[in-house]
Amino acid sequence: MARILTGIQASGRPHLGNILGAILPAVKLSQNPDNQSFLFIADLHSMTTVKDAKVMQENTRAVASAWLACGFDTQKNYFYRQSRLAGLHTELMWYLCCQTPFPMLSNALSFKDKSDRLSDVNAGLFTYPVLQAADIVLYQANFVPVGKDQKQHLEMSKDMAAAFNRTYGEIFTLPEPLIDESVMVIPGTDGAKMSKSYNNYIDIFLDEKPLLKMVKSILSDSTPLEAPKNPDNDITFKLYSLVADKSEVEKMRQNYLAGGFGYGHAKQALFEKLWTKFEKEREIFNYYMKNEEALEEKLREGEAKAREIAEQTMNDVRKVLGFA
Ligand code: ADP
Ligand code: TRP
Repeated sequence: MARILTGIQASGRPHLGNILGAILPAVKLSQNPDNQSFLFIADLHSMTTVKDAKVMQENTRAVASAWLACGFDTQKNYFYRQSRLAGLHTELMWYLCCQTPFPMLSNALSFKDKSDRLSDVNAGLFTYPVLQAADIVLYQANFVPVGKDQKQHLEMSKDMAAAFNRTYGEIFTLPEPLIDESVMVIPGTDGAKMSKSYNNYIDIFLDEKPLLKMVKSILSDSTPLEAPKNPDNDITFKLYSLVADKSEVEKMRQNYLAGGFGYGHAKQALFEKLWTKFEKEREIFNYYMKNEEALEEKLREGEAKAREIAEQTMNDVRKVLGFA
């Protein structure tokens, strides 16, 4: 049984890019009977930038609801908030800090990037990779699916675990990253990478009217309705081909090439596809967004299960450190 673990920052309502690029592939991985998945909201990490408690809570709810909506099975797997196990995560973080050479952290690419860009360069940003390593080795994870930008953090996690093992004996499983190079970049309404920070995202959980408005805002060129159009240069077509069936995509391609089919028609078809395809997901998402208690219950169950595993590891760790 392989342990697959990943953390998701509490950064707001997941959009179509997050869902197709990260959530659905991870849910698929978690459905493999040979895997056990640990999925947690990395709200302690989000604290490095989110300073408002209400925003933090809302983001956490939206992220958790989206994972449940996309079919993450919390019975088979582990689903929890890092902050509710903060004692264990940060205790281990301290132990790992004492194994981590200062230059490893000061040379980290993501720290350098953030300290150039952000006005608030706090110590949390600096020790961020150590908390991430603790998140991973606390559950003895074998594989960690992450985006390319997290590659260095994963190398550091493995180095910290190996350094600890060299000093104190074989306590930690050494984690390996799972980086899917083939994951495509989903374009946003302006054609750039879909991202919360570019305000070009499509929120599939919205109601009919605002969703249609969002789809209508997709950029298109000024080719007149009657003229043939090149589907391969068009954002609406690209998005449609990511969510529609093969035969539907082929039909849409022919419509573009034939002419007499406007971008308005294509956007209407994309809207209808999103509206019907994600009907169940939207329902579940909105259910958990409205029923705080139901979401709390799922998370609390997950936190109790996760705590058992984390405590086993920490008992072993405290023993070898002479703290038992
Ligand atoms: P955002 O750019 O909206 O802030 P994040 O950086 O929080 O998104 O990404 C969360 C996850 O979603 C990551 O695994 C990331 O690789 C994936 N993801 C984000 N945007 C896209 C996109 N446009 N296409 C594919 N995957 C994406
Ligand atoms: N740093 C990760 C990101 O920004 C989030 C994260 C925190 C994480 N802890 C983790 C990812 C442990 C994988 C494993 O996306």
